[in-house]
Amino acid sequence: LTNQNTVIPPAVANKSLSKAALDLAPIIEPVQEELEMVGEWLETNLIDDNPFIAELLSQIFSAGGKRLRPAIVLLCSRASLADGQEFSRLHIILAVLTELIHTASLVHDDVIDKASLRRGSETINRRFNDRMAVLMGDLLFAQASICLARIMNPVVVGIYGQVLGDLCAGEISQMRQQFSTAVDFDGYLKKSVAKTASLFAAGSHAGAILNRSPNNVTDALREYGYNLGLCFQIIDDLLDIVGTSAVLGKEPGSDLRSGILTAPALYILAGKDDQAEVLKHLVETREICSSTGSEEALKLIKENGGVEKTWLLANDYARFSKETLHKIPTSIYRDALESLVDYVLTRVN
Ligand code: FPP
Ligand code: MG
Repeated sequence: LTNQNTVIPPAVANKSLSKAALDLAPIIEPVQEELEMVGEWLETNLIDDNPFIAELLSQIFSAGGKRLRPAIVLLCSRASLADGQEFSRLHIILAVLTELIHTASLVHDDVIDKASLRRGSETINRRFNDRMAVLMGDLLFAQASICLARIMNPVVVGIYGQVLGDLCAGEISQMRQQFSTAVDFDGYLKKSVAKTASLFAAGSHAGAILNRSPNNVTDALREYGYNLGLCFQIIDDLLDIVGTSAVLGKEPGSDLRSGILTAPALYILAGKDDQAEVLKHLVETREICSSTGSEEALKLIKENGGVEKTWLLANDYARFSKETLHKIPTSIYRDALESLVDYVLTRVN
């Protein structure tokens, strides 16, 4: 299956993703040591030494996660260092706070989505209750604020303050779009920028701000993260259609069951044909919430090009993301950032 020189990996074409197309470890190898430092920081409780909280932090962060955002921060920070400039502890703290904000938002998101599985482990809301998860999420945000204070750069504080607002606004837009068949690509992309691309873009250019890099470098890195974030979210939405819980570490099909229409479903609705009417009916009557209704919607999307079109859309953002890298100096870090785009595009979880 090819289109616009884009080859759909067999896993996507077969509508079942089961094998990783690219291994992340060799790609992020140039910042492996720094990532280990980030890992140590993440499990450290900067607020108090309560053993129960320490155990929870350890559970949350040892469950893994790809650590993609800190890797982006570290690679972009290194890629934008000028000759004679040193990589510093501040870049590590920047990577830590980016992962803290991401994880905090997931802990809250699992409360909103009533999710029981995250990164293959029981969610905090499932293991304890919603109140505990809200407070643990808040504690992670508090740790992130301490990190921001330690960086002592008001521009970076402003960037991350905007991200926190975007995350909430993205989640609110998504709630308002639930069970609405009037949602279009513009609304979908705006929501995806807020809930995902905003944090990617912050992480990709904040290091360059600390490095006092020229504007063209800082702007290019921000654009890199923005487009990579959109690519990441589109693939996330695709995996909800074609993934399996064993590989994803969370339940697939949950967007459809909650009436959240993402790119694969929007392509069907945009057809304005009989299939679009069937999908519209499933959503508007809320039959889509049942397992038979969601199975029918999944089948409709898979059999009418929803998967392939979404794949091509993700490829567009991957290409935009790679193109911006031409505007920054060559280095092993820039090469890694380029490979990271392919990883995001072909990832299976
Ligand atoms: C995952 O979405 C969730 C996000 C990317 C962001 C969620 C943001 C919030 C809950 C607001 C955070 C609060 C503050 C104070 C900033 P998903 O449900 O599509 O992905 P999933 O399948 O991994 O759960
Ligand atoms: Mg969720």
